[in-house]
Amino acid sequence: MSDRDPGAEPIVVGADAPAWRHRHLLDVDVLAADEIDLVMRTADAMKGILARPIAKVPALRGRNVTIIFWEASTRTRVSFEVAAKNLSADVVNIAASTSSVTKGESLVDTIRTVQALGAQMLVMRHGTSGAPYLAAEHFDGHVLNGGDGWHAHPTQALLDLYTMRERLPGGSIAGRKVVILGDILHSRVARSNIWSLTAAGADLWLCGPSTLLRGLDRWGGRAAGFPGHGRFTVTSDVDAALRDADVVMALRIQKERMDSGLLPSLREYTARFGLTLDRLAAAKPDALVMHPGPMNEGVEIDPAVVALDRAVIEDQVTNGVAVRMALLYLLAGVHGAEGAHDAA
Ligand code: NCD
Repeated sequence: MSDRDPGAEPIVVGADAPAWRHRHLLDVDVLAADEIDLVMRTADAMKGILARPIAKVPALRGRNVTIIFWEASTRTRVSFEVAAKNLSADVVNIAASTSSVTKGESLVDTIRTVQALGAQMLVMRHGTSGAPYLAAEHFDGHVLNGGDGWHAHPTQALLDLYTMRERLPGGSIAGRKVVILGDILHSRVARSNIWSLTAAGADLWLCGPSTLLRGLDRWGGRAAGFPGHGRFTVTSDVDAALRDADVVMALRIQKERMDSGLLPSLREYTARFGLTLDRLAAAKPDALVMHPGPMNEGVEIDPAVVALDRAVIEDQVTNGVAVRMALLYLLAGVHGAEGAHDAA
């Protein structure tokens, strides 16, 4: 260990890194391939920081990061908080359930209020698709989407991508068969992953009961013009989906967002689509198993699958901190400033 203050080591991303052009992070669909690559490289640098004896740098010192979640969360909320604190930001946490939201305050009024209280970066989760886009129109700083309705969960998609790049032999996703299995219909995780994984050239398969795949072909059609357009397959044939897969990502059945009649019962779902060792045997022998959490073990994924060494679910959580540090850092505009470190 050097005798220098470990917090004083600069964040090194590479001189050839492209510039970061975005004020907000609302979804991954606006990120070009080189920008996704910049996030990955910056997250590598952040992982280096996380490995230091004191995992803290002054990059966001004096900046107010306000986190407000209108929906339940453990890992996303806490990892944003840890990420912001590792960058020395001042973190303000608001649970919508104990805020004036319960007294009928609107989203826009809440956004204006937190801004008046000093928020410069706003991390938010909301049950309504599009809510962070509305917030971004009324907020002078930076908005980071921690999940909106069924629509998008960009930081999850980026941490998933990071974890695949880290754990797949050769580090490349191009041509790899990636299966997302479960409640695709209600999943903002799946929607954001569709953009980032097809952009990375994955052979993407979306699999689940047909009632939970509704509209996806049409959605794919609307994605025309996006680099990965047309490269995903939608099927209810779980054996065909899992055959020779390199990565299998199971998703929770989102009962809280579900109309009645979409699934006969959870038991039936588990019997037909649950990720068991037997089903996983069709995939490549070293196929990675992923899950964004929270898991309902014994429903969409069997505990024996979770226990496998190649289940990288906790890596996803750890990498979430590094990727969120990278995004806060990039959005804050520190990257590219003269002497990135001095700018802190
Ligand atoms: C997911 C979410 O909230 O979208 N979880 C997460 O953020 N890691 C998925 C879910 O709720 O099932």
